[in-house]
Amino acid sequence: MLASGKKSAYKAPYFAQLRVFSAITKMARLIWVIHGPNLNLLGMREPSVYGSTSLARIDAELAKVAKAHGVRLDSFQSNHEGALVDRVQSAPAAGVDYIVVNPAAYTHTSVALRDALAAVAVPFIEVHLSNIHRREAFRHHSYLSDLATGVIAGLGPIGYRLALQAAIESLRGADASPSGPRPPKKG
Ligand code: DQA
Repeated sequence: MLASGKKSAYKAPYFAQLRVFSAITKMARLIWVIHGPNLNLLGMREPSVYGSTSLARIDAELAKVAKAHGVRLDSFQSNHEGALVDRVQSAPAAGVDYIVVNPAAYTHTSVALRDALAAVAVPFIEVHLSNIHRREAFRHHSYLSDLATGVIAGLGPIGYRLALQAAIESLRGADASPSGPRPPKKG
């Protein structure tokens, strides 16, 4: 309602409405972990670069951390750009509060994945097992980093855990703010 007594024509954007709905229904916060191409091969794939920990083990560790903090976590891996875009697009309707994403090779190539993350406006943290800045020049650029809340690279599987912890803390801070639960602002 406006001061003039008229009803405001303003409507929160669709995705924002979905997030408010999930906050009102007081569901535990939901964090998605998204892994890009070839990460299904972790453990066998270039262990000198990516280490010896399998993706299943990384996901299991993350699930433990999430459980200990009372948040819901869902992990997803795909070798297909379109499947990753579809997954990101479905995040608002699923009530996702935060995304931790290792886009793998699509980091350096995918405008589509960038556009999907920009469209849904779910806050996200970009993770890389290896330090992409110490590697080949083509890995130095990310299509996602400037949209991300933060970027972690070069710490191996610990990077995922730190990203998850940061996401949880950020959501806690948002829940505790006087204006009520809302996702953190970017920038
Ligand atoms: C990676 C780094 C990318 O350059 C590479 O294409 C990957 C994995 C990492 O986790 O270090 O597949 O994202």
